[in-house]
Amino acid sequence: MAGRKSPPKEKVMDLMSSTSILPLLLGCLGIFGIYQLLQWMRMKAYVQNTVVVITGATSGLGRECARVFHAAGAKLVLCGRNIEALEELTRELTASHTSQKQTHKPYTVTFDLADTGATVAAAAEILQCFGYVDVLINNAGISYRGTITDTTVDVDKRVMETNYFGPIALTKALLPSMIKRRQGHIVTISSIQGKISIPFRSAYAASKHATQAFFDCLRAEMEQDGIQVTVISPGYIYTNLSVNAITADGSRYGALDKNTAQGRSPAEVAQDVLAAVGKRKKDVIVADWLPSLAIYLRTLAPGLFFSIMAFRARNERKSKNS
Ligand SMILES: NC(=O)c1ccc[n+]([C@@H]2O[C@H](COP(=O)([O-])OP(=O)(O)OC[C@H]3O[C@@H](n4cnc5c(N)ncnc54)[C@H](OP(=O)(O)O)[C@@H]3O)[C@@H](O)[C@H]2O)c1
Repeated sequence: MAGRKSPPKEKVMDLMSSTSILPLLLGCLGIFGIYQLLQWMRMKAYVQNTVVVITGATSGLGRECARVFHAAGAKLVLCGRNIEALEELTRELTASHTSQKQTHKPYTVTFDLADTGATVAAAAEILQCFGYVDVLINNAGISYRGTITDTTVDVDKRVMETNYFGPIALTKALLPSMIKRRQGHIVTISSIQGKISIPFRSAYAASKHATQAFFDCLRAEMEQDGIQVTVISPGYIYTNLSVNAITADGSRYGALDKNTAQGRSPAEVAQDVLAAVGKRKKDVIVADWLPSLAIYLRTLAPGLFFSIMAFRARNERKSKNS
């Protein structure tokens, strides 16, 4: 019938067939698929037979990273303070050997990151395992809960020693051998709290801000030596981090926080760490939209961000006192 408008769906189909949009679309999808496949193969090749050192491998995200990198064919050096937990993980990984991919028996090195002397000595031990290190994953860390007014400076120092001075001491001790080989990759697990500060987490947020700053400087300084630097900032992960956190007087917090319990699974986050390393990403946020939005708010509307944080502090204090 003259003047009758064809429905939009028919119009779209007409347009597609008349202007060859469909073949073009399929071509683009094909190219995108091939690009993704090549990226994936490049990522796998980067990790396979690569010497990867993981600190804090006894628990949470570190343990899951060990599983994921082992399965991807990396040669692992697992670090932590608890020798039994490291040996148990080594047994588990060795037993999980599949015939599809060549996997390697991990080495273990025990040391306390809060002890700089022990950390530097451990770096020499780490280097002896395979003769060199390709990827260092600075994962170990502790959290903190408390008010600034109640917290002793010794507690601030303890958090800084584990989360900041330990990882930088290990990094500095391993860097010369990487520079000599003109090859290496330093990965650091920071936190969303390395980009924004949440009330009652002062020592933790400060240590993660310092971490972010240090490794950003390192990235720039190491570029000419061919060393990669990746900073990964996750949101909440369902691990024992809050349970192991220290409080204002240095005692153990000992409770699983609601936010942590609702966090992402460490196995899922470990896959994101593998992808970030394989793709040689520089700075990665691994979080839902809300923490990501908070980072933008802190940058673009700091006044609003500070008001929200003050409101949060008031609320938390009120619910604690009631
Ligand atoms: N869970 C979260 O919501 C979350 C969010 C953002 C970022 N992160 C970061 O993710 C990383 C891993 O934490 P997680 O969540 O897996 O917590 P976790 O389960 O408590 O694991 C922490 C690991 O760090 C090790 N560690 C702590 N203090 C150490 C020291 N002085 N020397 C050597 N190793 C030490 C622990 O070893 P021991 O067995 O010897 O104690 C443990 O293996 C941390 O850097 C944390 O800040 C976690």
